[in-house]
Amino acid sequence: MLLLQFVSACFAVIVASATNIRPLVVWHGLGDYASSEGMLELQALFKKEYPSIFVHSVYISEDEDLDRRAGFYGSSNEQIELAAAQIQAIPELKHGFDAIGGQFLRAYVERYNNPPINNLITFGSQHMGISDLPVCKRYDFVCQLARRAAKAAVYGDWAQQNIIQAQYYRDPYDYGTYLMKNRFLASINNEVPDQRNQTYAANLASLSNLVLVLFTEDKTVVPKESAWFGSEPIPAPDYSAQSRFTAWNGDDRIPMRKQPLYLEDWIGLRKLDEKGGVTLKICKGEHMEMNACWREIVAPYIGGEM
Ligand SMILES: *[C@@H]1O[C@H](CO)[C@@H](O)[C@H](O)[C@H]1NC(C)=O
Repeated sequence: MLLLQFVSACFAVIVASATNIRPLVVWHGLGDYASSEGMLELQALFKKEYPSIFVHSVYISEDEDLDRRAGFYGSSNEQIELAAAQIQAIPELKHGFDAIGGQFLRAYVERYNNPPINNLITFGSQHMGISDLPVCKRYDFVCQLARRAAKAAVYGDWAQQNIIQAQYYRDPYDYGTYLMKNRFLASINNEVPDQRNQTYAANLASLSNLVLVLFTEDKTVVPKESAWFGSEPIPAPDYSAQSRFTAWNGDDRIPMRKQPLYLEDWIGLRKLDEKGGVTLKICKGEHMEMNACWREIVAPYIGGEM
């Protein structure tokens, strides 16, 4: 009897280990079409590499056109809430998962993280926002309309509720307005001094790994260093004042480890980094041009056992 129990226990362990590959969630909702192409390509490559892995691709709408539209139009906060509900309803994900995507998945970690993300890999993401709006492809009218609307009133209430790119637009020369009006990025970056949320920091620091991938020729994410939590310097209120910004030559970037967000650890990034959990990686090429770079980057973080 005892032996039988022992044998069946062993069998259970074997069965469990065969099926306990950590699932993967992919979210292509990054606000531009090039990236969704990249994400779909990546997903296809994935299924080939790890045939038994459970993969869920987050969608805002099951209709492909509407889903694509959701990359431009809507509320980031609402889309993240919807994604969280979607993830929570999938039994295969209930013990946690690894994830590939962008700042929306980082927001999921900070605000929900239930079920928890283990490793998060972000490709060409706008962690410190964009200081210019990406140029659209020639015949991409959905993109062009959104861009025009965003440019016209980027910090207006309407754009902040309805135009995705406006919600991660962060102009260093108008930082005060950004802090006051931005409804999404300023929140997930805990940039507004009296509104910092400690849960965000605790959740982000609980990741095993955060892998930040920068594309060397990225022209969609401006500046491209945003993918590594870099940004252009914020000028002192009095531009002519003697400050470290007066020497700015236009190409300088404040790297992650010199950002106030990091130094004062508003979001748990420093804590995660100090325990070895933040990795900076490079892909050669334009935004979301995965080419050969993805396999080597993701291999150590995806397909592990639970
Ligand atoms: C902080 O964030 C958590 C997680 O999203 C939320 O439940 C909580 O209400 C927030 N706290 C404040 C003070 O907004």
